[in-house]
Order: sequence, then C-alpha cells, then structure tokens
Amino acid sequence: MNFTPTEEQLAVQQTARDFAQGEVLPKAAEIDREHRHPAELVKRMAELGFLGIAVPEQYGGSGFDHVSYVLAMEEISRACASTGVIMSVNNSLVCDPIYRFGTDAQKQEWLTPLASGRLLGCFALSEPEAGSDAAAQKTTAVKNGDGWVIQGTKNWITNGPVADVCVLFTMNDKAAGHKGITAFILPMKTKGVRVGTPDDKLGIRGSKSSQIFLDDVRLGNELLLGEVGGGFKIAMSTLDGGRIGIAAQALGIARAALDDSVAYAQQRRTFGKPIAQHQAIAFKLADMATEIDAARLLTLRAAWLKDSKLPYGKEAAMAKLYASDVANKAAREAIQIFGGNGYVTEYPVERHFRDAKITEIYEGTSEIQRLVISSYLSKGQ
Ligand code: CAA
Repeated sequence: MNFTPTEEQLAVQQTARDFAQGEVLPKAAEIDREHRHPAELVKRMAELGFLGIAVPEQYGGSGFDHVSYVLAMEEISRACASTGVIMSVNNSLVCDPIYRFGTDAQKQEWLTPLASGRLLGCFALSEPEAGSDAAAQKTTAVKNGDGWVIQGTKNWITNGPVADVCVLFTMNDKAAGHKGITAFILPMKTKGVRVGTPDDKLGIRGSKSSQIFLDDVRLGNELLLGEVGGGFKIAMSTLDGGRIGIAAQALGIARAALDDSVAYAQQRRTFGKPIAQHQAIAFKLADMATEIDAARLLTLRAAWLKDSKLPYGKEAAMAKLYASDVANKAAREAIQIFGGNGYVTEYPVERHFRDAKITEIYEGTSEIQRLVISSYLSKGQ
C-alpha cells in the first residue's frame, strides 16, 4: 500500500489549488449571493484541462487519472462548491459515459468538445416521479422510421440551463422495466427541448439546475448512447463514478469549514485567550480534521480502484455516504465555533452549511448509498 501521490497528481493538485485560491475563492460569496453561473470560471477550468480530467488527450481531455480528479475537485470545491459541481457533472456524468459507451464518431463529435470545455454537459435521469427510484422513467422514446420521438419532463438537472449537450435517459419499453431504458446524447438546441426556470435553491446557488421539457423531440439513431434497453446500466455505472466526484466535493466543503474554523478560532478571543485554546473548541477542530481525513481516504480509495480497473461501486457509495455526512457535520460545527458570526452572511460558514446539504441528496441520497452498500453485503461482496 502506497499513500504517496505521484508527481503528476501533486502537480494537478497544485494547479487546482492555485486556481481555486487565486481566482475562485475571491468570487465565491458573490456567486452565491447573486445566484450567478460562474461562466468565466468554467472557461478557466476548460483552459486548465479540468473539464475532462480523466478523458484521454486523443478525445480532448487531460489524460490524468481519477485520483487527480479527486484532488482537483477537493481544491475547487473548497473554494466554491457551485463551481465544483459544474466540473463534477461534466467530468463524471457526461464525459465518462460517452467515453465508455459512445461510438468513435460520437466521441469525435461530442466527447472532444465536452472534455476540452468548448461545450458543457448535463445528465438527465431524474424526473418529477423518478428520483431515488431511477428505473421509474416516464419520459418516452418511440421508434419512428430511422429515429426516435421523445416526450417527457426531467427534473433538477444540474447545468440544465447552461448546458449544450445532455446525456438523456428515456423509457422505450415500459413492460421491460429497467431493461426498457435507453440513453441518448441530446444536443440541447434540438427542436422541442425547453429548459425551465432555474431552481431557487438552499445552497450551491451558482450551480444552475432546472427542469427540461421534451416535446416531440426527434433524434436520429446516431444519437443513441449504447444499446437500446441498455440505459439503466449506463446510468447506474455512471453514478458509481459520479459519487466519487460528489464525495470529493463534500470533502472540499468540509475542508473549507475546517480551514475557516481554525483561522477564526486562532484570532477570536474569549475569557482572555483565543478560543482555539479552549478545549471545547480545540476538540471540535480535532474531530473535524480526523473525520475529513477518513473521508478523504475513502474517496481516494474509490478513485484508485476505478483507476486500477477494479470494482468500486460499493467503495464509491461508502465514500459519498461518509464524506457528505462529514461535510454537514463540519459545516454545523463551524457555525457553532463562529457563534453569532457563523449565523450571518458576512462570514462564509453559513454558505458551507447550505452547500453541504445537497451532497446528501444528489447522485443518490444517503439512504440510497446505504441501499447500494447493503446490497453488496448481501451478495457477500
Ligand atoms: N452498474 C451496473 N449495473 C448496475 C448497477 C451498477 N452500479 N447497479 C445496478 N445495476 C444493474 C443490476 O445488475 C440489474 O441488472 P440485471 O437486471 O441485469 O440483473 C439492474 O441494474 C437493476 O438493478 P436493481 O434491481 O438493483 O435496480 P433498482 O431499480 O432496484 O435500483 C437503485 C437500484 C440503487 C436504488 C437505483 O435506482 C439508484 O441508484 N437510485 C438513485 C438514483 C440516483 O442516484 N439519482 C441521481 C440523479 S443524477 C444527479 O443527481 C445528478 C446531479 O444533479 C448532480
């Protein structure tokens, strides 16, 4: 077992840290306050190669591994969780399935601009009545001559209002259950695609999400992703990887809460000394740091397993379950450490508290992660 990052991994981490601290952090409060999509930061992430980190260079990506992806995601999410999730969705939920299931022509046409950041992607699985129960898809795809006609509504689609391309899931054979689900690559400019009003959210307010309405949308067979009826496995295996990205986002939020708390506790004085010297506060900081490290190890292990082409679904679910819990706990403790200052928007920790919550919900709630983990256990894995 070797815990030493490679020189390449350290270089990616340093580049991400410099970008996050120098360019992202100074804007994070404003992005949150204004509910603003940080287009200029997305452009910079494209220039730095962060929108297709693990995609081979041949298809416009950076050709790094998933450990590097986790290291970069933590740094960027530590500065701004909204910017982090924009990056995560494009990498994990859009580039990854097109890389794994797309034809070479699809990779040339769609993956290359997505991984290089010329286009931005979204992933449309959830529906008003299909969130945790992802197989209950109501969006229909009906074969029509050489192509397909699609009708339906997708919900809470991260990047939806700003995406150029969507990895879309539909039901083409209801009787077949999850084996009737089919995936497509949907150019968002296709006639019949309409994006709803951006969701008004508790946290990650710079990450635009919305409904997507699909009304008589016509797609050719060249936009089928994988096989007819193979969509559910594409969605599930994609989410396995996505959960590593969200675990890394949660890690970034948790670290922001800890770093801000340590700095505050060293300068805020009560009863004649900095509050960091009161054991009540010092122990909170110690617990936060320990739990963050444990979450980081789980997340890096899942990424390493993916890089090693070993099974990682259970470990990715464990990483997301634990890291999202740690992020919420760390943000809650940070507010307690800041006291009254933690409760006002002048200080950053109330933002961390609001941003942390979503990590227990999207890409599978904590309850779904427990379901996934326990189903591996019941199979003796
Ligand atoms: N990889 C490949 N195949 C998988 C798989 C995986 N990880 N997990 C399940 N499958 C396969 C199974 O092997 C099975 O195949 P067979 O029939 O051939 O044996 C098939 O899929 C059905 O499996 P299940 O019976 O376990 O499926 P289920 O309907 O009971 O659902 C679930 C399982 C884990 C609850 C699943 O529905 C799930 O993950 N739900 C949560 C959905 C989710 O995470 N949504 C997030 C939306 S995206 C998002 O949030 C993005 C964003 O905005 C940032």
